[in-house]
Amino acid sequence: MTSGMTAVDVREVGPRDGLQAEAPVQVFDRVRLIMALLEAGVRHIEVCSFVSPKAVPSMADAAEVVAALPEIAGARYVALVPNLKGAQLAIDAGIRELSVTISASPEYNEKNVRMTIGDSVDAIEAICALGLPVDAVVSCAFGSPYEGDIPPADVAALSHRLVEVGAATLTLADTTGMATPRRVNEVLAETGVDIGLHLHETRGTGLVNAYAALELGVQRFDTSVGGLGGSPFAAGAAGNLATEDLVHLLDDLGVETGIDLDKLLAASAVAADVIGHPVPSRVAAAGPRTRLAAG
Ligand code: COA
Ligand code: ZN
Repeated sequence: MTSGMTAVDVREVGPRDGLQAEAPVQVFDRVRLIMALLEAGVRHIEVCSFVSPKAVPSMADAAEVVAALPEIAGARYVALVPNLKGAQLAIDAGIRELSVTISASPEYNEKNVRMTIGDSVDAIEAICALGLPVDAVVSCAFGSPYEGDIPPADVAALSHRLVEVGAATLTLADTTGMATPRRVNEVLAETGVDIGLHLHETRGTGLVNAYAALELGVQRFDTSVGGLGGSPFAAGAAGNLATEDLVHLLDDLGVETGIDLDKLLAASAVAADVIGHPVPSRVAAAGPRTRLAAG
């Protein structure tokens, strides 16, 4: 048991962060993956992004993905947007919750969304004024491949500013897997623990960082089925913390997620089928610790 915690919110980002790093797949297959996740009990899903199809070809046709989503009680479908245009396209498509991307790293922000951090804050203010709940995702919060470690006080100041301009919630993203438990402690000491964490396994520290954050009291995590993912705009980015690896750990700790691990592994197999190659998740490869070898 961790910090007396009984439940955490797992936001699945595979259909967005996962598939954006892969060669484009058909809308039908993107929806098939989302349906498999819903079948496993996943209810909070970043289903797509409304971004320039020139910048991220795999996220084209986002409106078609949204149009195919089923109405399911408790399902929360989120779209990631970088600017006001994306937010308007998302709303037109029927999306009711947004995540917005901004970076603590000036150079990554420039590469990713072609804006200064200040311009991104202004864009987020305009997006929040549209009235939907907005989760502001601060990328490179635990370090940047361009500037190195960003001072935790700067991450906290940017986070504070994003709440001031209307963000309902915050997520700190470890875009290139630079976080360690020490770094998680340092950054969260400044930002507080009422944040979501978006972790990557670039250096194999995603799960141990999640555990350190759980001990601190963090209750929201972004994960990607199969451990797919990575930003095409960050040198050396690799997969997200795998949903099945986190759920496997949380099941063992007795922390509720509402997700059925066996059905999630079936969704992970769908992900592998959709992208046409094996996924990096270790639990997907080895199975749950309690599964006995046949024969
Ligand atoms: N969705 C779709 N198209 C968009 C868009 C959006 N959110 N924002 C801009 N565009 C279109 C414009 O209409 C314009 O189209 P045109 O060439 O047919 O006239 C074109 O993109 C360029 O617009 P501009 O505003 O000059 O954008 P830019 O070239 O400076 O690029 C972004 C800025 C933000 C659109 C682009 O960098 C982007 O989409 N980044 C997202 C990156 C991402 O998803 N990273 C991973 C997730 S964090
Ligand atoms: Zn990511």
